[in-house]
Amino acid sequence: MKLTGEEKEMLGGKEGPVVAEAIDYLVQFGEAFGAEKLIDIVYCHYPAEMGIYEGMVEEAVGYSNTGVRVKVPTTSSTLCSDLEKPEITDIPKPLAELQAKIEPAHRRMGILETYTCTPQLLGFIPPFGSYNALVESSAIIYYNSVLGARTNRGGMFTRFSAVTGKYPLMGYLLDENRKGTHLFKVKLPTEMLENYDVWCALGFHIGNIVGSDVPVIDVPIKHVKQEWLLGLGATLATAGSVTLFHIPGVTPEARTIEEAFHGDVPKDYYEVTEKEINVIYKKLTTIENGAEIDFVNLGCPHYNLEQIRYVADKLDGKRVADGVRCWICTNRMTRKQAEYSGFVEKIERAGAKVIADTCPVESHMRISTCKDFGLKTPNVDAMVCNSGKMLRYVGDLIGCKTALTNIDKCIESAITGRFEL
Ligand code: F3S
Repeated sequence: MKLTGEEKEMLGGKEGPVVAEAIDYLVQFGEAFGAEKLIDIVYCHYPAEMGIYEGMVEEAVGYSNTGVRVKVPTTSSTLCSDLEKPEITDIPKPLAELQAKIEPAHRRMGILETYTCTPQLLGFIPPFGSYNALVESSAIIYYNSVLGARTNRGGMFTRFSAVTGKYPLMGYLLDENRKGTHLFKVKLPTEMLENYDVWCALGFHIGNIVGSDVPVIDVPIKHVKQEWLLGLGATLATAGSVTLFHIPGVTPEARTIEEAFHGDVPKDYYEVTEKEINVIYKKLTTIENGAEIDFVNLGCPHYNLEQIRYVADKLDGKRVADGVRCWICTNRMTRKQAEYSGFVEKIERAGAKVIADTCPVESHMRISTCKDFGLKTPNVDAMVCNSGKMLRYVGDLIGCKTALTNIDKCIESAITGRFEL
């Protein structure tokens, strides 16, 4: 790999051994994938360093104690605890205390304590075509597809990018890897596409087919809400391992279908009708209609202020059924604004909770963590949710029954304590 003078100096230890080690890892990583050089990144979303993984927080604190600092604006991903209000999730105190040690460590390194899977909702919007290094598959796919800001699935190498400001030029940073592979013609009634959960089901179906390829999704509407793209991307990234998608006329690298394929022919063509979408609802719904439920989750990926306002208005004057936990997950800044706007009070008055920094599958409710802390296992029996990504994980990680439905039915289910199909 060809290195610049600055990079050679870093490698030689001019900025200390931790930076030298970081750039060495990046060089080796790039060489393994045939990258010709490193590039400068403009933004980084840093890995969740979570208390539920043995030794992870201690290791991260040790890393921060070396004095190393990040070189580019760096936000941070979700944790297992709501650091400001740990008690509202019923997390065991020792685990909350362990997780809280990450915050001063991140501050020492210059990492911003956002603790969210949707940093784009906080205004971290790098320029179109810029190079970035991110973790969190639902954020990565959004940055690539909707913003046209280039990133791979960074994994733990993101730490090395944060402290060097570098990444190997490879993967989705290169034009040739950004062209569409499969064409999907969506033939759903436009009123169906007004629902967030339908975009999740669409993502689930397409993700299952394409795996890690680049789907081009031709939808019959051109006015697409940001939250639908979030739900679609998050589910594409988890049902498959999709890192980039295009919607002609909507996403910036696909003004037309031809542009999405860089002038080439798609390797496959599929039509998506209600039939395929119904299969996904059936697959993700194991709770019988009318059966008792004990958890309703909204906010996967983390909600924006408008989504919280909608829930607050729906819950206003209502009451969540006894024995049902109803979580609305978001980032801490949005929760602050939602407190200011009176939305949190309305939600709490109804017996629901606005949770920041975490979500059910990242929390202590995972089967393994429940066992470690002697908590009821599974911690949840039946979860109703409008997110395909959440439901892709909760069955395995929390071990509960699940149901995918729209936001209004989720809220209705929380109030009646039963799954309202
Ligand atoms: Fe975010 Fe948790 Fe969903 S990290 S994307 S709310 S699974």
